[in-house]
This record gives sequence, C-alpha cells and structure tokens, in this order.
Amino acid sequence: MKTILTTSVRLASEYIRKGEVVAFPTETVYGLGANAFDEKAIKKVFKAKGRPADNPLIVHITNFNELQFIAKTIPKSAEKFINAFFPGPLTVILPKTERISSLITAGLNTVGVRMPNHPITQKFLSHCKVPVVAPSANRSGKPSPTTWQAVKADLDSRISCILKSKQTKVGLESTVVDCTGKVPLVLRAGAITLEQLRQVIPATTIYIVTKISKVKSPGMKYRHYAPNAKVVLINDKDNIVPKSNSAFIGINPSKIFEKCLLIKNCKDIKDYSHSLFHFFRECDSKGIMTIYCKSVKEKGLGLALMDRLQKASNI
Ligand code: TXA
Ligand code: MG
Repeated sequence: MKTILTTSVRLASEYIRKGEVVAFPTETVYGLGANAFDEKAIKKVFKAKGRPADNPLIVHITNFNELQFIAKTIPKSAEKFINAFFPGPLTVILPKTERISSLITAGLNTVGVRMPNHPITQKFLSHCKVPVVAPSANRSGKPSPTTWQAVKADLDSRISCILKSKQTKVGLESTVVDCTGKVPLVLRAGAITLEQLRQVIPATTIYIVTKISKVKSPGMKYRHYAPNAKVVLINDKDNIVPKSNSAFIGINPSKIFEKCLLIKNCKDIKDYSHSLFHFFRECDSKGIMTIYCKSVKEKGLGLALMDRLQKASNI
C-alpha cells in the first residue's frame, strides 16, 4: 500500500470517510485514526499497529453533540471534567452506547472519549464528520510518535495517509480518567495533572496496578514506550560511570554525562516531556545502546513523565 503524505485536512478526511486509516497530529502525540462507526476500518487500525485486540481505543470528537452517540450516560464527575478540560489532553471513560462497537472497547461496556485541543486536529475531525478512533500512531511497543517522520518510520506502506504537521506540543499521551465508579480513577497520568483533576473533584485517585488487582486499563499491562536501547533511570545520588555508546536526557546533567554521545539537557519538566519520545527514537536511529534518564519529582506533569520513564526502563 502506498502511504500518501499530505498537509491537506480535506484529503486526509476523505480517506477516513472511505474506510481507510489515517495518521494525524494532536497536541499530545500523533494518532492512528479510523471511522469509529466502521468496523472494517477499526480492524485495519489494530492490524497496522500490530495492536492486541484486548487493548481498547479512544474515540476522538470535536463537537459536544457527538457525545450522545458514544456515551450512554455522562456521570456527574465526567461532566465536571469535560467542562473543565475539554478540549484538551484528557480522556474520560464513560458507559458506552450500543452504537460503539465492542472492537473499540475490547469487549468492555465503557468507552474512552477525548476532544483534542489542536486547530489542525479539530479541522480534520470536523471534515471527517464522524468520531474517529485513534491509538497512538506507533507500532505496538514503540514510543508514541511526536513527529510525522516517526509515524512514517513505523507505519509507511501499512496505512493510507499521514496528515503532516509540526512536532506535537505535549509529547506524552493524554491523561485517562475512569468516571464510571464512585470516585474518579486516573488510569494513566498525562498532561492534565492529578492536582488539576483534584481541583475539580478532590476525591480523584490514582489507580495503582498491583499483581492482584484486576487490570482496569488493559493498555497498562503491556510494555510501552520502549526504545531498542536499554533505559536506565538515575538519580543525582547514583554513582554512575556512563557506558560507551550511551546517551543522557534530563534536567541539569552532572559532569560525568559529558562523555555520552548524545545529550539532551532539558530546561524543565515540560521540555523533558516534550522531548522524551523523540529523543528515544533519535537514540535508536544512531545505534545508542544505553540511555540514562534523570528522575524528576512525581508531581504535576512529573507524575506522567516518571510513569513513562519507569515503563520504558521496565521497572
Ligand atoms: O493522547 C492520547 O491519548 C493519544 C492521542 C492519539 O489521542 N492516544 C493514545 O491512545 O495514547 P492509546 O491507544 O495509545 O492509549 C489509550 C489508552 C490505553 O492504555 C487503553 O488501555 C486505555 O487508554 N483505554 C481506552 N479505552 C479504555 C476503556 N474503555 N477503559 C479503560 N481504559 C481504556
Ligand atoms: Mg499507545
């Protein structure tokens, strides 16, 4: 299959309406989209990514009217979060309607919904005229793509179209919050922070996966975000002698890392989050064997960043 590269939202949306798969930018990471009401198209998304069928997809909308076709009810907590954070990097889990295929939800009776906050995504979605399911546009197990070039590297000739735009702003995936229970549960940390959610609903809790707890967000059981290189999470206190063929990313690197072949000295946590997946891919393309990533405090956006770093280092 030839993959068309375009900057035309009109052309890209035509592929969605024809039942094809299109990669598109959002403020978080690039997504791999298909018509949410077309089961054949949804199957193509799983196939192109090599995604296990038991990991559900997020439905993307650009208009509040679309919610009625997706969610059976909107719990009070969800309504509050939607009012506060849509459009934005937040996915709310809601009870699903009959119309939402179990292919999207991996058999669950809930569905994740998100309204991206990016002018090109909004234009693209409104031209599609249907809600669009989209996981991140990487091959399963790879870091999420933050540039169209990263999408192309993973999915060239496996999808019909890539809607080209700039590097994504946030660089990490959306916060996922389950609003179907008594208290809202954060299943995946992201750019809408736990502190921000708690300002709206103080009881909001972070869901911790334990070996005995049932996996609530099926995506959490898979190894994620991993480059080919070994990721080593470090603290300032650690006494590390960098290996040969290694790289460093983090805030205020200590002198010892000057030996590394690639160094990304991040301004702050926002810059670190924005750069991380891109840096992982750059390291892989240069054949780096070890990537040292400096830890940050697990608060604010730092919670999401540490979650991705821990997953990449397989702790
Ligand atoms: O920022 C993002 O969320 C990006 C952009 C493209 O919107 N999308 C994204 O999708 O990261 P994906 O498929 O890579 O991650 C979706 C996560 C998975 O961990 C999945 O298990 C969880 O959301 N999820 C989706 N629907 C769910 C549901 N009904 N219940 C629990 N978890 C769900
Ligand atoms: Mg993903």
